[in-house]
Amino acid sequence: MAKRIGVLTGGGDCPGLNCAIRGVVLKALSLGYECVGIQEGWKGMITAEAKPLALEAVEEIIGRGGTILGTSRTNPYKKEGGVEATLAAFKTLDLYALIAMGGEDTLGVAAKLFKEHSCRVVGVPKTMDNDLSATDYTFGFDTAVTVAVEAAERLIDTGRSHRRIMVLEVMGRHAGWVSLFTGIAAGADYVCLPERPVDRADMAEKLSAAHARKKVALVVASEAVDLGEATDEKLDEFGHMILKERGVGEKLAALIQKSTGIETRAAVIGHIQRGGPPTLFDRILGTRVGVKAAELVAEGRFGTMVALRGNDVAAVSLEEATAKLKTVSREWLALCDTLCAKSGPR
Ligand code: F6P
Repeated sequence: MAKRIGVLTGGGDCPGLNCAIRGVVLKALSLGYECVGIQEGWKGMITAEAKPLALEAVEEIIGRGGTILGTSRTNPYKKEGGVEATLAAFKTLDLYALIAMGGEDTLGVAAKLFKEHSCRVVGVPKTMDNDLSATDYTFGFDTAVTVAVEAAERLIDTGRSHRRIMVLEVMGRHAGWVSLFTGIAAGADYVCLPERPVDRADMAEKLSAAHARKKVALVVASEAVDLGEATDEKLDEFGHMILKERGVGEKLAALIQKSTGIETRAAVIGHIQRGGPPTLFDRILGTRVGVKAAELVAEGRFGTMVALRGNDVAAVSLEEATAKLKTVSREWLALCDTLCAKSGPR
């Protein structure tokens, strides 16, 4: 009988997950394993819910957004009996190993299960936020930014027609990678990131100057940007703030309109960034990390996560990979200031 690998996807979905699932299954089948898909992340381990993942199930999913397995933000460590149920599911579902695809939360659970219970787990990093420190890029990010850049260019068109300043609020949680890359690639006039508080006077000055030159100006703002106001937010099961209610884009637009006297509008791209077909980069990266994860199972290298290092996919320790978030560095902030807070000739 073939050994069985379980595959799960947890946390926010992102384009490239189906590529990674397909990569795991194709490689696992070639190595003589069979695969099952755990339904809706760690929730499916707690309830021992899985469906077969045969060739037919994955053959045609490379270009499909979302995850065919479903996902959730369930944390077994926060549910009564959740860890025991998860450990039992390894037996009930007859799993030889489990490949967990997720961000710091999902992979944090995998790291703990390995450390505390020697579970045979391998991690695959995914997140549109690109905030995992052990890997150069996560799949999902390239697609999310590509979609946001298109949205930004649309906002510039309508903003220029009405002589307005436009604010685009993007996701990305507490790392500013999405806003940074969107701002640079769309030629924004100001980028507000969670890594530093907004300098309101500087922003008003730069936007007024940009608007005087071009009759339009674009601001890209991260959903988690610090506007210097007290916030009272709900937390999810992993202890993260639910940021969508903060309304950063609208608040910034009001501030900008007041300080510049220029009519300003805000748009929130939200989950549109997370859906749709993956870009070429995400298809290739997702596929490669999926294939590598199946190889790591076959090599018995449990407690590891697949990482992109330069142009290579390599194994790193799951525990180290989930220890700290990758936020925007000072070098990137300096580049952002050069490109997206332009000073005219003095
Ligand atoms: O972590 C991915 C992400 O899209 C964040 O950028 C965002 O803050 C969050 O998920 C939104 O979560 P939900 O889909 O649960 O609203």
